[in-house]
Amino acid sequence: MKDQIVFFNGDYLEKEAVKISPEDRGFLFGDGVYEVIKTYQGKMFEFDAHLSRLERSLNGLEIQFEELDNLKSICHRLSCENKLDNQDAAIYIEITRGAARRTHCFPGKPVAPAIYMMINPCPSTKKEQGKGVKIIFRPDIRWARCDIKSVALVANVLATQKAVENDAAETVFIRDGAVTEGASSNFFAVFDDVLYTHPESHYILSGITRKVVLELCYEIGVRVKQYPILSSRLDTADEMMVVSTTKEIIPVIQYDDKKVGDGTPGPVARELQQAFDRATAKL
Ligand code: PDD
Repeated sequence: MKDQIVFFNGDYLEKEAVKISPEDRGFLFGDGVYEVIKTYQGKMFEFDAHLSRLERSLNGLEIQFEELDNLKSICHRLSCENKLDNQDAAIYIEITRGAARRTHCFPGKPVAPAIYMMINPCPSTKKEQGKGVKIIFRPDIRWARCDIKSVALVANVLATQKAVENDAAETVFIRDGAVTEGASSNFFAVFDDVLYTHPESHYILSGITRKVVLELCYEIGVRVKQYPILSSRLDTADEMMVVSTTKEIIPVIQYDDKKVGDGTPGPVARELQQAFDRATAKL
């Protein structure tokens, strides 16, 4: 994006003018957290849920950040300054422990956390939502605190690259024989009209879209079980879906070289997509 205005440590400035310290702990250690919030025609979706998850992530890393209350107005200003208030966009917020001489432990003298925020147009996924996508499954090699939305994402990066190399839209992880979540999404599967997803735990990110999907299931009368999905049962799934803030609800029609159901998006995914669109249109 040309002449993009971003927010960095209290200032609104052009992206090129941002100077991040080489001693920033986000850069050195991946010692920071982030959020991605979608705006629909300038209106933020589930802002409060994203903010409370950000607070939980900060608490998880013991980063003291006192200015959470200011984030909403910064989001609005970025949306207006970048003239993205009448289209769909994604806001990125990153907070790191700040810059200090490199030691693995927290800085001896407390330093101010660093904050960076930007907004970008969010490409529509309606095509993928309509046709469905292929995914691949891979072992979950991530750490055991996936509930913290940490910027230390190298395992997710490697997994996403494997998806690209296999003409797939997402890699979904398997830990101890159970499906956890995607490299950047939560995972659902339908067995005999019941929608299954991994329960909230340290092994998955508590996705905001996942939460919305569960609420929509209640609204439209789809039965839900928050149980781990055994990888050994995957070939009997009627439907699969990957969901996230930027993806919304994407049906999975193929995994590895196997068809899901009849190889087309299923009725539960369709109904959920429609309910989701109704929810975002109401904003
Ligand atoms: N990722 N699980 C992981 C590992 C994720 O990275 C994401 C989102 C989700 C879905 O969460 P939500 O519904 O709150 O977006 C689940 C964001 C979009 C990203 O990294 O860009």
